[in-house]
Amino acid sequence: MAQESDPRRTAVVMAGTRGLGQACAAELLRGGLEVTVCGRDGERLQQAVAELGAVAGDDAVTGERADVSSTEDVERLVGGAVERYGRLDVLVVNAGGPPPGDFADVSMEDWDTAYALTLRSAVTAIRAAVPAMRERGFGRIAVIGSSSVRRPLEGLVLSNVFRPALTGLVKSLAGDLAPDGITVNMVSPGRIDTERVRTLDERKAQRQGTTAEEVRRGSEAAIPAGRYGRPEELAALVGFLAEERAGYITGQSLLADGGLTPTLP
Ligand SMILES: NC(=O)c1ccc[n+]([C@@H]2O[C@H](COP(=O)([O-])OP(=O)(O)OC[C@H]3O[C@@H](n4cnc5c(N)ncnc54)[C@H](OP(=O)(O)O)[C@@H]3O)[C@@H](O)[C@H]2O)c1
Repeated sequence: MAQESDPRRTAVVMAGTRGLGQACAAELLRGGLEVTVCGRDGERLQQAVAELGAVAGDDAVTGERADVSSTEDVERLVGGAVERYGRLDVLVVNAGGPPPGDFADVSMEDWDTAYALTLRSAVTAIRAAVPAMRERGFGRIAVIGSSSVRRPLEGLVLSNVFRPALTGLVKSLAGDLAPDGITVNMVSPGRIDTERVRTLDERKAQRQGTTAEEVRRGSEAAIPAGRYGRPEELAALVGFLAEERAGYITGQSLLADGGLTPTLP
C-alpha cells in the first residue's frame, strides 16, 4: 500500500472479527490507519483484536461488540468511532451472510432479518458516517457484496435480492457524495476461503450426500483461477479504494472472483 500524506486516518470495519472483514481491517492497519472492528461474539472479538494488534500494535485497534442488524448498535459503533477519533476516513460496510435457502424455504421473518442484516445495516452505517466525512471533505466507503450482484446464486435467494439492492444504494450515493470528496464502491467476493464458504460447502455436501472436500473441488473446477480466493486478495482491493489516490473511482461494483462470473460489468 502506498504511503498516505495524512498518517492519522481512521476506519470502521463492520463485522471485522473473521474472514473478509478481518482481512480488510488488517489491510487498513498495514496502511497505517487506526481501525475499529465489530462482531457479536465477545470471545471472537477479543481474539480478533489481539490478532489485529499483532499487525500494527494494540493502540491502533479498537474492538466493539455490536450486531450490525441493530440500528442502535450500528449508530453506537460508528458514532462512537467518530467521537473517539474526532474524524472518520474509511467505512467498510460488511455483515454476516444471510441464511441460505430458495424462495420456498425462507419465511417472512427471514426476509425481514435479511433486510436488517444486509441492507438496513449499510444504510444505517453510511448515514452515521457521512456527516463526519463531509465535514472534512474526504471519505472512502467500501461495501462488501457478493457475485450475486451480477448473477443470482443457486440456493441463496436472500443474497440474490438484497445484494443488488446494495449496488443501487452505492450507485445512488456515489453521485450524491462525490462533491464532498467521498467515494462509495462495492467490492464483491466470488468464492473466498472463509468460515462462511466452508459452512455453505458443508451444507451442500450434506444435501448431496458427499463430502465438503468434494463440493469444494467441484466449485474450484468452475473458477477459471482454479482455486478459492484468499481473504487478503479481496482486502487488497478495499485497501486501494481506501487510499487518497483512488479518489476518482466511485459508484463502481468490482468483483474479486478469479474469473468466476462470466457476465459483463
Ligand atoms: N467468503 C466469500 O467467498 C463470500 C462470497 C459471497 C459473499 N460473501 C459475503 O461477505 C460477507 C463476509 O463473509 P465472510 O466469508 O467473511 O464471512 P465469515 O467468515 O462468516 O465472517 C463473518 C464475520 O461477520 C461477523 N458477523 C456476522 N453477523 C454479524 C452481525 N449480525 N453483526 C456483527 N457482526 C456479524 C462475524 O462475527 P460474529 O459471528 O461474532 O458476529 C464474523 O466476524 C458476508 O455477508 C458473506 O455472505 C462472502
